[in-house]
Amino acid sequence: ASGCKIGPSILNSDLANLGAECLRMLDSGADYLHLDVMDGHFVPNITFGHPVVESLRKQLGQDPFFDMHMMVSRPEQWVKPMAVAGANQYTFHLEATENPGALIKDIRENGMKVGLAIKPGTTVEYLAPWANQIDMALVMTVEPGFGGQKFMEDMMPKVKGVFGSGVHWLRTQFPSLDIEVDGGVGPDTIHKCAEAGANMIVSGSAIMRSEDPRSVINLLRNVCSE
Ligand code: DX5
Ligand code: ZN
Repeated sequence: ASGCKIGPSILNSDLANLGAECLRMLDSGADYLHLDVMDGHFVPNITFGHPVVESLRKQLGQDPFFDMHMMVSRPEQWVKPMAVAGANQYTFHLEATENPGALIKDIRENGMKVGLAIKPGTTVEYLAPWANQIDMALVMTVEPGFGGQKFMEDMMPKVKGVFGSGVHWLRTQFPSLDIEVDGGVGPDTIHKCAEAGANMIVSGSAIMRSEDPRSVINLLRNVCSE
């Protein structure tokens, strides 16, 4: 895909120095920041909530784009607090809500972009009806909850009859939709994401663990934009 954007996930960064870690990523050429919110209920891990986002916004200024990956039950309750804290995009899980339509509307009314995420076990059959109302679809390539897991290649092409859970299917059906992949994406797996048609690339440990994050970010962007 042309013009891929790279959004480092700060989940596996030094969380005691989160602001500095975000700055390090932006200084290394990150196009946006992917911020993982976990509530210990929707996923078996806890990270942070809107007070931390508010502090990050104060420290980083207005420019950086915050993509909030909301791995939480009852995502409805954090829309306003996240908007007030300075989030730009609110990406919620389809599995976490009974009423995606109302939530999409609420996110827009609060001035944020809308992302809709599906776990590996959820097929795009469920996401497709909402695709024309959202800005971005997030196809998880690991089970949400932890960084540093292995990329699930079978999320990519998937042509099971008409429907599948694959990025490629989504790209074919919705040419102008932003499609994000998240989980186990790095120099070894970016080719598959690019080939499938993803254009927003989340990468956590591959960037964080590198001595030279700038070169990893550039590599990912170059491969993806070929
Ligand atoms: C997983 C998170 C991801 C994760 C990505 O639940 O949503 O954003 O931090 O990290 P890596 O790239 O290490 O899989
Ligand atoms: Zn994430």
